[in-house]
Amino acid sequence: MLADRQIRNIALVGFMGAGKTTVGQIVAHLLKFEFKDTDRLIEAREGSRISDVFATRGEAYFREQERGVALELETLSHHVISTGGGFIVDPANLESLRRHALVVCLWASPETIFSRLQHQTHRPLLQTSDPLATIRELMQRRAPSYRNADHLVGVDFRSPADTARHIASNFSRSRNPSAREFSGVGALNPSCPPPAQSAISAPS
Ligand code: S3P
Repeated sequence: MLADRQIRNIALVGFMGAGKTTVGQIVAHLLKFEFKDTDRLIEAREGSRISDVFATRGEAYFREQERGVALELETLSHHVISTGGGFIVDPANLESLRRHALVVCLWASPETIFSRLQHQTHRPLLQTSDPLATIRELMQRRAPSYRNADHLVGVDFRSPADTARHIASNFSRSRNPSAREFSGVGALNPSCPPPAQSAISAPS
């Protein structure tokens, strides 16, 4: 129950390229919240880009940094937090976010993700010979984790501004005792089927 939690922030989770940073910045602007991005926090702490952290220290080290950042985030209030695509794969990180934030997952299809990221080279996990196949495989593996977010918002057919407006208005409503519950996926995006159906079922 959202009512039982100390929700002071919004955390955006979801696959690489789903639009967490863009949407998060707009939500922060709308709510007059501060914005934080877990990858930027790690880069500041490490003094190097995420791709260099992966290359020099490896993924396991990067995941350790994510766990450290998760604990630091627990002290925040009035923040929108954009997380790296693998952040909530560790259930402890999701539990940590749920202690202080409404956790909203942005969901895009593998094809949308691929079309957005195909010309980018700074995401180490997608530097493979067949990035679309990698996206499908990783997404299928991560779908159960993403499904554990409080809310899933389909973004394939929504602009970042539209997605942000819905998240901001529903967050405000969720903090109003007379309408505590978020209005859910259907209300956020009628074109996005609920998780058990096609939008989040195993990508082909
Ligand atoms: C990752 C996603 C990236 C970044 C790192 C690992 C992942 O963040 O944290 O490259 O495991 O999905 P974005 O989701 O912001 O691209």
